[in-house]
Amino acid sequence: QTEIYLAGLSGVVPQLPMTFTELERRAELAMPPGTWSYVAGGAGDERTQRANREAFDHWGLVPRMLRATTERDLSVELFGHRLPSPLLMAPIGVIGICTQDGHGDLATARAAAATGVPMIASTLTEDPMEEVAAAQGETPGLFQLYCPTDPEVAQSLVSRAERAGYSAIVVTLDTWVTGWRPRDLSTSNFPQLRGHALANYFSDPVFRSRLAKPPEEDPGAAILTWATMFGRPLAWDDLAWLRSLTDLPIVLKGVCHPDDARRAVDEGVDGIYVSTHGGRQANGGIAAVDCLPEVREAVPGTTVLLDSGVRSGSDVVKALALGADAVAVGRPYAFGAALGGTDGIVHVLRTILAEADLLMAVDGYPTIADLDREAVRRL
Ligand code: FNR
Repeated sequence: QTEIYLAGLSGVVPQLPMTFTELERRAELAMPPGTWSYVAGGAGDERTQRANREAFDHWGLVPRMLRATTERDLSVELFGHRLPSPLLMAPIGVIGICTQDGHGDLATARAAAATGVPMIASTLTEDPMEEVAAAQGETPGLFQLYCPTDPEVAQSLVSRAERAGYSAIVVTLDTWVTGWRPRDLSTSNFPQLRGHALANYFSDPVFRSRLAKPPEEDPGAAILTWATMFGRPLAWDDLAWLRSLTDLPIVLKGVCHPDDARRAVDEGVDGIYVSTHGGRQANGGIAAVDCLPEVREAVPGTTVLLDSGVRSGSDVVKALALGADAVAVGRPYAFGAALGGTDGIVHVLRTILAEADLLMAVDGYPTIADLDREAVRRL
């Protein structure tokens, strides 16, 4: 903020978007229509997607006065790592379709290195996870697993993530099959099938052993083999097997019911990630942020993450007050990538964090720990 106002004194007006509405508008102009639909769209008539955002309007922060907030500390501890802020980048497969050079995962990783905002690297990246990890610098990354039906390929992906230095495995539960997405269906637009974002598979020795010819020689057959093993519909019985794959903390993404959260923690899971996948998987559902208070209450002491619909610093602060330990954004940083690669992502993250920081200053909450349920009211 200070940077922008000072520049304004010498007549320099920021060229970058300062609101999400403006970011979205410019990203749409910058992206080819099919890519835009894929990234911006959701399931069914997109009611859950809209609900995710509108739900933040049903919660209001309560300002507190006469508290010393000149110094703020937004840092949090996540799976043994001290992070400068409670913000994360949600996993976005095929983010390479958003950037000019196709290497959206590396752009995201570099933004993570520049800001300290961790990237949750998707299974579906356009560069192998080892290269993505290396580009994250000192910022600890997390690896998101879409669990393949072939257990040995799953083991291989997880072991590679562990060796590459990722700090946790985030297992996405809600996407063993792709949801009903009319925008993509009407254009037959499913970018992964064109071979984007399969670098983790194509570089995987166990996956390669399942092919008659290497992917370089017959990419079509490799894509088909991948498609047959893409999504294992995980069940409670699989948790022990998942646990046996790694010593890293395991986080389950897509948990919205308090009973599911409780049982997952009872069965040895380390973190719960409340998410409706940004409304891309199921339609007609409850907003993720409205699930958060009950999940928080169900698993006291367990790390709880949230995404879906977070667009601003005030959304982040509300989610923290409702019980999240850290909050992730998805589409906002994908739009940033479309506008300016790493720099665009850094800009989006910095504006969200600057707004959160100032809000905590004026509302009287100097640290994340001060943001408890008393800080927020249902409107
Ligand atoms: C996603 N998301 C996602 N989630 C995941 O676990 N693995 C993935 O590969 C992807 N891929 C993906 C692609 C695109 C284009 C989008 C927009 C989203 C879901 C993502 O992690 C997150 O849950 C939502 O994006 C959060 O909602 P918002 O912030 O986009 O509203």
